[in-house]
Amino acid sequence: MNFISKNIIELIQNSLNVKKANLHNPIFNTDEINELAKCIKSTFVSSVGKNIKLFEKKISKITNCENVISIVNGTSALDLSIKVLNIQTNTEIFVPSLTFIAPVNSILYNNCIPHFIDIDKSTLGINPDKLEIYIKKSFKFKNGYLINNKTKRKVSAIIPVHLFGHPLKIDKIIKIAKKYNLKVIEDAAEALGSFYKKKHLGTFGDLGVLSFNGNKIITTGAGGAILTKNKTLAKKIKHLSTTAKLDHPWNYIHDEIGYNYRMSNLNATLGLAQIKKINKILINKRKLFKIYEKNFKNNKYVDLFSEPSSSKSNYWFQTIIIKNEYSVYKEKILEDLNFKKIQSRPAWSLVHKLDKYKKYPKMDLRESVNLHNRIINIPSNTFNFLK
Ligand SMILES: Cc1ncc(COP(=O)(O)O)c(C=O)c1O
Repeated sequence: MNFISKNIIELIQNSLNVKKANLHNPIFNTDEINELAKCIKSTFVSSVGKNIKLFEKKISKITNCENVISIVNGTSALDLSIKVLNIQTNTEIFVPSLTFIAPVNSILYNNCIPHFIDIDKSTLGINPDKLEIYIKKSFKFKNGYLINNKTKRKVSAIIPVHLFGHPLKIDKIIKIAKKYNLKVIEDAAEALGSFYKKKHLGTFGDLGVLSFNGNKIITTGAGGAILTKNKTLAKKIKHLSTTAKLDHPWNYIHDEIGYNYRMSNLNATLGLAQIKKINKILINKRKLFKIYEKNFKNNKYVDLFSEPSSSKSNYWFQTIIIKNEYSVYKEKILEDLNFKKIQSRPAWSLVHKLDKYKKYPKMDLRESVNLHNRIINIPSNTFNFLK
């Protein structure tokens, strides 16, 4: 066992007061079982049912966003967001390389081109200052369009990703987007319960996306949502996500090529039971961070990532960042922690390095590469604190 691993394992075990721990599990009790049983008994398990609207209303209250449209999962929510904003094909969309693959795939589903942008070490999200310098150097703004000098393609949008639930500097991203006429789809899939300057993530851009996958802060099994302050867009999203079917008591008339992207009543039912716990989950995630913070303070080998300034993070994942001089041990540390059943994970592969994606344009991504070599997500379950 490596000497750093030994130290980290000890600190995690002491923090959690257990020998083995998982990264993150959903928290269920009789609430979920009772509500799901009721839903099944009602027979409304699919696309029709009162819980879908109720779930949307609750998410609307948490996020303080007027329009919430529940979707079958976060990936489809991103896909539909690009479609509904009428983003032209063969245009470039700025996106980080250090991300779960979904936002990049959603760009490709829509025949657009991902253009990878570097991140900021204080937020783990797109670095707006570096992006602005890059735009000035490598693009021109002509007739209302941002044009890539090298590829001659237009840039149509930015998809910033709030990584591990931590808010990036979204106000600066919005400023850049306004200046260069770019749409913003905020990927807040991991960020339910996170705020930047007291405003919920996903409510800054043209559209924002949440995920309620089983590994998220609350789950609907599979699920997602689109947030928007724009009523007209919200109506369009609802329409397109429900096969573009016109309201009629018995006839099936579809006025556009729609999608079957709606969330089911069964999923929404699970979500409603989960929402009852969200405040407690958020409190406990923060408590866990505080305990780790105390134990990892002044650690020789790693730093614990803490929420950026002007932010309130949901602390979905607890993240350690190996100090530069010890980053060569990352794989060994991961191996040792997982061997000891301290479930730990690296960040996802950098997308620009994956075979199928490496042909797409990118800026200098040195911070993404550096952080990728040093990030380890450690057990983030809060079972021990939930009574
Ligand atoms: C950053 C990010 N974007 C998008 C998604 C896609 O969400 P889903 O799994 O619900 O499709 C996820 C996670 O699952 C994610 O972590």
